[in-house]
Amino acid sequence: MSSSLATVAYIGATILFILSLGGLSNQTTALRGNLYGMVGMTLAVLATVFGPQVTSAGLPWIIGAMVIGGSIGLYAARTVQMTQMPELVALMHSMVGLAAMLVGFSTFIDPAASASFAGPAKTIHELEIYIGVFIGAVTFAGSVIAFGKLSGRVTGSPVLLPGRHWLNLMGLLVVIYFGSVFMQAHDVQAGMLPVIVMTIVALLFGVHMVMAIGGADMPVVVSMLNSYSGWAAAATGFMLSNDLLIVVGALVGSSGAILSYIMCNAMNRSFISVIAGGFGTTSTPKPAAGAVQPAGEVTPVTALETAELLREAKSVIIVPGYGMAVAQAQHTVFEITKFLREKGVNVRFGIHPVAGRMPGHMNVLLAEAKVPYDIVFEMDELNDDFPDTDVSMVIGANDIVNPSAQDDPSSPIAGMPVLEVWKAKTSIVMKRSMASGYAGVDNPLFYKENNRMLFGDAKKMLDEVLTALKA
Ligand code: TAP
Repeated sequence: MSSSLATVAYIGATILFILSLGGLSNQTTALRGNLYGMVGMTLAVLATVFGPQVTSAGLPWIIGAMVIGGSIGLYAARTVQMTQMPELVALMHSMVGLAAMLVGFSTFIDPAASASFAGPAKTIHELEIYIGVFIGAVTFAGSVIAFGKLSGRVTGSPVLLPGRHWLNLMGLLVVIYFGSVFMQAHDVQAGMLPVIVMTIVALLFGVHMVMAIGGADMPVVVSMLNSYSGWAAAATGFMLSNDLLIVVGALVGSSGAILSYIMCNAMNRSFISVIAGGFGTTSTPKPAAGAVQPAGEVTPVTALETAELLREAKSVIIVPGYGMAVAQAQHTVFEITKFLREKGVNVRFGIHPVAGRMPGHMNVLLAEAKVPYDIVFEMDELNDDFPDTDVSMVIGANDIVNPSAQDDPSSPIAGMPVLEVWKAKTSIVMKRSMASGYAGVDNPLFYKENNRMLFGDAKKMLDEVLTALKA
């Protein structure tokens, strides 16, 4: 393929990626957005593989790597459970970071690459390598720890080293110092030590940064690493002088940064304090053990009683959470919704921005079950309506409906906006036990006088509720 044809293909792919992002902003156009993305990526890969930069001797290697990588990707996509998606995404971010690191090292030791630059261009090229490897290493290590936290292999609580901010600052100074040594080095031998030291510091920084972040703040970290992976890809683009990679990396980097900002707003967190880590653990110490234990008894109900409450209701708000995804209960939820709507009940869904384990998790599940978009509302659109609601039905959610976020300033989730389900005439919480949610915080909602607990797997209990409703 000639270089001008490859450039045209790159421009086409860039336009398709922008259209893809635009499409993904709305549920009705999301399918089309995905399609644009797939076509754009195919075009980009073909234009690169058959482009002027790949020699015929290198082609079999690239095709071999694509077959192996593609097969692993296909297998992972086919076997991954919906509840494991955030872990898979974190792992993929780590791959982008690793790729940026490896490309940085290989560009650095490649004599042909360095020979093609001279004067100021050489300085800029070396700076690109140093920064690219740094971003890649932070993204790689941070994403691996995020994967560990999301999959329960690493503790979800913040791990705070004494003087952690000073440690980070020291790390940054070491990186800057070795950066200047690297820039003054005249050959690969002299430059190798500084870049290796910086890589080790960057890896430790990535681990330290994500380890210090508490469970409830993980959504911000996931989207932040998403943004970092974009910048890592852009850095790779600079190192390889690949315009498409620069543009796509910048698109991912900036959309990830915007998403992180939105998530921080939704959780009433300051972006800087989340990144600094350990939010809610230093300034507001946890009360002594036992003090957080909400007092009182819970009132369990059966599926039959739940069906009774729903049948008598005129308005119902359903609040789904991570447990609905685990139980794969969305289809039964839709069946119940359909039944109640046919009987004239006003059924609506309230979606918390961090419900589940990834942005838009609940929207994806409800769309899969064909729940109409016009009855699915965001938290802010619905929170004032709970006092006029007969039944609020919480399906496998916990942290996002925890009143202690509003009432208990010492709670690790203090200040996070929540869906005020307890303000409905009756609230029903469906979960298997009294266990806490992702943030590991007790939930006083369970003990409220107007709250009922329907214990059991959400899918099984909802099937029983549906049978009782239809009986
Ligand atoms: P959680 O607070 O994690 O609560 C989910 C509840 O579902 C659990 O208490 C669990 O109780 C119940 N459950 C699990 N399996 C179930 C099943 N088969 N049937 C019925 N119930 C089941 O979830 P949430 O309310 O959706 O809040 C999300 C949390 O995850 C927040 O803390 C958020 O910060 C965090 N987080 C979110 C994201 C994103 S981007 N959304 C990413 C990472 C972390 P039992 O064990 O008693 O059943």
